[in-house]
Amino acid sequence: MEISRGVMELRLLSFIFLCMLFVVPSRGRFTRYYTPPNVPRLTDLVPRVSIDQCFAKLFGASNMRLMNNGSSVNLTLDKVSGAGLVSRNKYHYGFFSASIKLPSGLTSGVVVAFYLSNADVYPHSHDEIDIELLGHDKRKDWVIQTNIYANGSVKTGREEKFYLWFDPSLKYHDYTIIWNNYHTVFLVDNIPVRELRNSEAFYPSKPMSVFVTIWDGSEWATHGGKYPVDYKYAPYVASFEEMEINGSMTTSTPTSPSGSKTNVSSPDTLERPEFIKLSQQQIEAMDWARRKLMFYSYCKDTSRYKVLPPECK
Ligand SMILES: *[C@@H]1O[C@H](CO)[C@@H](O)[C@H](O)[C@H]1NC(C)=O
Ligand SMILES: *[C@@H]1O[C@H](CO)[C@@H](O)[C@H](O)[C@H]1NC(C)=O
Ligand SMILES: *[C@@H]1O[C@H](CO)[C@@H](O)[C@H](O)[C@H]1NC(C)=O
Ligand SMILES: *[C@@H]1O[C@H](CO)[C@@H](O)[C@H](O)[C@H]1NC(C)=O
Ligand SMILES: *[C@@H]1O[C@H](CO)[C@@H](O)[C@H](O)[C@H]1NC(C)=O
Repeated sequence: MEISRGVMELRLLSFIFLCMLFVVPSRGRFTRYYTPPNVPRLTDLVPRVSIDQCFAKLFGASNMRLMNNGSSVNLTLDKVSGAGLVSRNKYHYGFFSASIKLPSGLTSGVVVAFYLSNADVYPHSHDEIDIELLGHDKRKDWVIQTNIYANGSVKTGREEKFYLWFDPSLKYHDYTIIWNNYHTVFLVDNIPVRELRNSEAFYPSKPMSVFVTIWDGSEWATHGGKYPVDYKYAPYVASFEEMEINGSMTTSTPTSPSGSKTNVSSPDTLERPEFIKLSQQQIEAMDWARRKLMFYSYCKDTSRYKVLPPECK
């Protein structure tokens, strides 16, 4: 009796061990963490700015901490408030980049955003170019959402969503927007993930401010509040450094209130070939990101768009 019980226990133990082998790796979904293709580092071509000099406080002044002589900043979301900065200048085209480290832990509903907008000036015909980093639940699905509005209301969003190929809470990663007369490109660690060519039909075309924010997106980001922000884990701190903002600055709004299209030139430095056209290597890297990591595109959403927008073809 004693012997067979020992054998049974051993079998049970090895069965449990085998189960763990299969269960543990899939739980964290680490399969999405890839080594990305090599690409040129556009972020090395543009000088950094002082966050302190370039930005003003927008909201949550008590939840922001400038560091390193104003070259980096921590923005915090707690039960009382989020925090946000807005650029002191408006830009009509440019190169916009930030190195961001996201809060770790369970961050469901916590939204960290780096975006351009002029909704404050044109409430009914605004332009917007968004990078929104969505907090994640237990499954470690880190998501970057990109969106573009051109002369339109918020009813006509053009979202694309991707899983990140790394854990963005472990180190700083570069999130970049190129917006010029030729195209708008979203890049993550210099890998282009989305490109919108300048077409007459749909293109952001009026000066915009740059915003850097952290906020409670419980309702918006988690299927109508399915996984709201859990303030048991607060404060949530997002760190920003190596900010690069380089573009055509405008202090006044354009004379044409309709925002009719005009071709504005970027500063000479941004008219370099690297900024106006993707290379073959960059196109291949973008194909890689879209094939492996994109899980939503408005261009495939036929329930939302009976007729797909022209730029989708
Ligand atoms: C701090 O930053 C300002 C510009 O924002 C710069 O003029 C100054 O030299 C910097 N000081 C140090 C010690 O780096
Ligand atoms: C800023 O946030 C980082 C976490 O990303 C943290 O390690 C650091 O201590 C914070 N600095 C300050 C001054 O709060
Ligand atoms: C923009 O970048 C160029 C170099 O690429 C630099 O000479 C210029 O000072 C930058 N402008 C700003 C506002 O940082
Ligand atoms: C932008 O929208 C305004 C108001 O909705 C409209 O009058 C104008 O023609 C539009 N401009 C472009 C370039 O589509
Ligand atoms: C503006 O620039 C785009 C892209 O270079 C070009 O296709 C278009 O013809 C230009 N429009 C005008 C009005 O110059």
